[in-house]
Amino acid sequence: MSTEYRIDSEHLNAFVQTLWRHAGSTPREAELVAEHLIQANLAGHDSHGVGMIPSYMSSLAQGHLQLNGQINVVRDAGAVLTIDGGKAFGQVAAYQAMEKGIERAQQLGLAAVALNNSHHIGRIGHWAEQCGRAGLISIHFVNVVGDPMVAPFGGSDRRFGTNPFCVIFPRPGKKPLLLDFATSGIAFGKTRVAYNKGQRVAPGYLIDAEGQPTVEPNVMHEQPYGSLLPFGFHKGYALATLCEILGGALSGGQTTHDETLQTSNDAIFNCMTTLILNPQAFAAPQMQQEAEAFLAWVKASPQSGEAPIQVPGEWEEANRAERREKGIPVDANTWQQICEAAHKAGVPEAEIARYQALAHA
Ligand SMILES: NC(=O)c1ccc[n+]([C@@H]2O[C@H](COP(=O)([O-])OP(=O)(O)OC[C@H]3O[C@@H](n4cnc5c(N)ncnc54)[C@H](O)[C@@H]3O)[C@@H](O)[C@H]2O)c1
Repeated sequence: MSTEYRIDSEHLNAFVQTLWRHAGSTPREAELVAEHLIQANLAGHDSHGVGMIPSYMSSLAQGHLQLNGQINVVRDAGAVLTIDGGKAFGQVAAYQAMEKGIERAQQLGLAAVALNNSHHIGRIGHWAEQCGRAGLISIHFVNVVGDPMVAPFGGSDRRFGTNPFCVIFPRPGKKPLLLDFATSGIAFGKTRVAYNKGQRVAPGYLIDAEGQPTVEPNVMHEQPYGSLLPFGFHKGYALATLCEILGGALSGGQTTHDETLQTSNDAIFNCMTTLILNPQAFAAPQMQQEAEAFLAWVKASPQSGEAPIQVPGEWEEANRAERREKGIPVDANTWQQICEAAHKAGVPEAEIARYQALAHA
């Protein structure tokens, strides 16, 4: 097992901004990317945090990721906006797409935002939280174009991406309810975290290249490649299918098939169809009371084990509290890869060394 460092979230944020500014991002782009990655780590989703940086640098070097790319509204149908992400940083494209959708939902009561052709948009909960902060409910269907990693229920090789699904329900004066997960049993990034740490994953999530169950994350990182399995047997597979089609096809983007297979592992392109609802437009004056009564009722169930009953989103909140205080955990392999990426981006060695000194075991 490799060493794990703890790094203060503000220092890490400053390092990530420095890295992307040296790579060529505007200060605003560097700020949005750093904010997104650090927030993913703070939420406990290390699979979508700063560990993505080496892959983004490779995608940039291969000419896929477009720094300072622009989004383009290709169709404005009032309540429906279709947006071409221009292969820009997803952390910027999705942010701007949500800004536009929020404005429409506030005007009209609801809006759909179809974002296609965006570089990796990372942790989807971040986009839901942007809607939630505006007092809105959002529902996100996402696909990963042409980068299959998950086997269909009943199949034995990789046919589609880890297609996340996400819903937020804001609660005035309280933390929102947040459902945010990959439709694979575990996110691909969690196999990367396990691989970098030299750990195995729990049974039931992976099959090898022969379609046999395995707990070795190397089947996702070394040839011959195996596959992730969908969560919840046929149910997760069915949800992943609808994420692929609503996310990839309805957005004006692409789904995964022979003609769209990506040649690079580092270039991740997402499409996302988001429905944004303004609860104020519904005739539901008891909505919050009903929601709270349900949550209290559920939490009153006698605990079956050690862990307390949580509502969706509480796990992330607990991580935020702990990680803001103790720092973000980054394993030594990932930290080394990030420092190498900073070197490639042109960050001066003395500055990298200064940030390296801030990591503590
Ligand atoms: N951009 C992409 O292509 C892409 C692809 C896949 C996943 N992702 C992101 O990866 C991240 C990780 O996904 P994952 O599948 O590993 O998530 P996960 O398995 O950790 O599940 C997270 C969800 O489960 C909830 N949860 C956790 N413990 C709970 C409990 N005890 N009770 C109730 N709810 C609980 C969390 O609040 C959250 O809603 C997500 O943020 C997702 O958006 C992105």
